[in-house]
Amino acid sequence: MPRYSTLINIILFILTTLLALNIKMSAPKVSANDWLAAAKYRRSVYGLKNTSKVPDSRVQEIVQEVLSFAPSSYNTQPVRVTLVTGEKHTQFWDIVINTAEPILKAAGAAVWDKMSGILQSHKASYGSVVFWEDSAVTDEAKKTHASYAHLFESFGEHATGMNQILVWTALELEGLGANLQHMNGIPPVEEALKKFLDVPASYKLRAHLNYGDEPTAHNTAVPPKRPATETFKLDGLVSLMYMIDQ
Ligand SMILES: Cc1cc2nc3c(=O)[nH]c(=O)nc-3n(C[C@H](O)[C@H](O)[C@H](O)COP(=O)(O)O)c2cc1C
Repeated sequence: MPRYSTLINIILFILTTLLALNIKMSAPKVSANDWLAAAKYRRSVYGLKNTSKVPDSRVQEIVQEVLSFAPSSYNTQPVRVTLVTGEKHTQFWDIVINTAEPILKAAGAAVWDKMSGILQSHKASYGSVVFWEDSAVTDEAKKTHASYAHLFESFGEHATGMNQILVWTALELEGLGANLQHMNGIPPVEEALKKFLDVPASYKLRAHLNYGDEPTAHNTAVPPKRPATETFKLDGLVSLMYMIDQ
């Protein structure tokens, strides 16, 4: 029969092990600095190749992972994504270029001269993660949360943007390059892409992330930014009140 003190030791051992396990399970796997360094690694990369060192299945996994946890206002989840790769991606850009050409030419020969080269270089990339907002979800949210109805259009944009930055960063951490495009700037292009990708009428094109292997080594240099003296203000009173509130 174990002595009383031995029993206490066994119970203490079990308790500390369970506590340690729980801490391990709930502790974040990355520090804030790791997270910021990862986010800072992302750049707009152009001149992408029509190859991808990352299999489509892994890109799909990343996109689905982002969709599984990214935030949206009232958790309404208006974001939808289509992944387009390979030959279908070339067709995607043919549709963009063919639809945009008369519109850009009408804007002036100089516009077309400049834009056609840019569009052709995007066409030469490997794939696109296309971000939509389902306006049916947004319209429903306006009814459910009527007092905030006027904000839901921008909330939908915010939600897709949050998904975009997460996917963009993750793809570059996997070793790909990517750049963000907004072909919704030319409404007939959006309509043609909706038809081509066979999405519901309620979907609105918000952006698409062009990706592929990088043409050169990843450039980590952040473009110049405005100084924090211009973009940031520490309001001592608010921050003090916040601390008291904690
Ligand atoms: C809301 C938003 C819209 C953007 N739209 C485009 C775009 O249509 N085409 C493009 O080439 N880059 C676009 N960009 C990329 C920016 O030009 C780029 O992020 C910026 O110049 C800073 O460079 P970085 O991405 O390397 O940090 C967009 C970025 C944001 C955040």
